[in-house]
Amino acid sequence: MESKIRIFVVDDTQETRELIGQYLGFDEKYEVVGYGESGRDAIEKLKKIDTDIVLMDINMPDINGLEATEIILKNSPHIMVIIMSVQKELEYLKKAMILGARDYIIKPFDMSVLDETIERVIEKNHYRAHVSKAPEKKYEGKVVSVFSSSGGAGKSVIASNYGAKLFKEGSKVLIVDLDLLFGDIGLMANIKSNITVIEAINEGIHKESFHHYVNSIADNFDCILAPSKPELSEYVTVEHVENIIKISKELYDYVIIDLPVNFDNRTLKAMDLSDRIIYLITPDVVSLKNGRLGIELMRSLNYEDNKIIVGINKYNKKLSLNLADVKKVLKLGEMLVFYEDIRLVNDSINRGQLILLNKGNRSSKFYKSLEGVVIF
Ligand SMILES: Nc1ncnc2c1ncn2[C@@H]1O[C@H](COP(=O)(O)OP(=O)(O)OP(=O)(O)O)[C@@H](O)[C@H]1O
Ligand SMILES: [Mg+2]
Repeated sequence: MESKIRIFVVDDTQETRELIGQYLGFDEKYEVVGYGESGRDAIEKLKKIDTDIVLMDINMPDINGLEATEIILKNSPHIMVIIMSVQKELEYLKKAMILGARDYIIKPFDMSVLDETIERVIEKNHYRAHVSKAPEKKYEGKVVSVFSSSGGAGKSVIASNYGAKLFKEGSKVLIVDLDLLFGDIGLMANIKSNITVIEAINEGIHKESFHHYVNSIADNFDCILAPSKPELSEYVTVEHVENIIKISKELYDYVIIDLPVNFDNRTLKAMDLSDRIIYLITPDVVSLKNGRLGIELMRSLNYEDNKIIVGINKYNKKLSLNLADVKKVLKLGEMLVFYEDIRLVNDSINRGQLILLNKGNRSSKFYKSLEGVVIF
């Protein structure tokens, strides 16, 4: 941004307003265009003054920061609101994000953190403005969810690399990280972005704006990230999940969903909308026991016979349970088997490189086992 970033500061404490105003005033990038002493005062003044950013306190007399954010964004949707709140107002703060605030900062804060937050918000906004237009072509995407009843079974590794395999074969692929509390897809695909599912919700989930909140892993290979802060995960509703999946089917050949370990309503919605569910089990007694119970539960949901596909991950011929016995316990005909390769998998996670995107890994058993997967 070449011109100065205009900032309007709202806080009912004069000292706070002055401190922030002085700090920002020292920096050439910024121009403080005004101050609000309460929510109402800010709403009135912002009818006459234009600004890029509003720094908004929450707890104020007359109209509080939450209501003020809602009204200001209704009047001037281009304004980027950053909430300033104390730790104990965490609930409000999350609500403000859902109402459309772009970020928040916990009081008391160091001025350098304020600087970083403003820059991050500007950067996100810049990204929104410069992404290409939504494509015209219509897709009939297939949805594959990866689930497990045991944590650490390899859902994220398998989901991201299965997506990479399909992309490598020429398909347009989206990975959706629905492990909303502790999503790992950003880490595994080396995406350093603040654009997550929360930004999608803030902006409204529509086909036309969908490209605003997907992150690109490669051309035609995208992902939607889980919230950057776990406390925001509860604001993702069943309806949001449904909308994201339905729209992404129109925009991609394949939609691969990384699910969490619990069967909450959002997980169940994603499962309902999936064409296939890869149910991961590691070949040890505990995972097998949990897997058997989970699969029985899923069978009771009356999905079609071929919808649930069991995948054994981290298979090691020498150390794992015998595959024939596993099939017998799970009452299965077929299952996928993904080999264990501790060094390759850990290395790829540490580097943020998907295994299936690197031909150098072609000789590994893990690569081959994923490359061979055909489930449609
Ligand atoms: N085939 C494999 N061979 C060796 N290690 C593996 C394999 N698959 C996954 N791992 C390792 O298992 C760990 C967990 O993998 P991952 O994060 O994909 O599991 P998850 O099911 O997504 O876990 P969470 O429940 O935490 O989301 C990682 O450290 C990864 O390196
Ligand atoms: Mg995971």
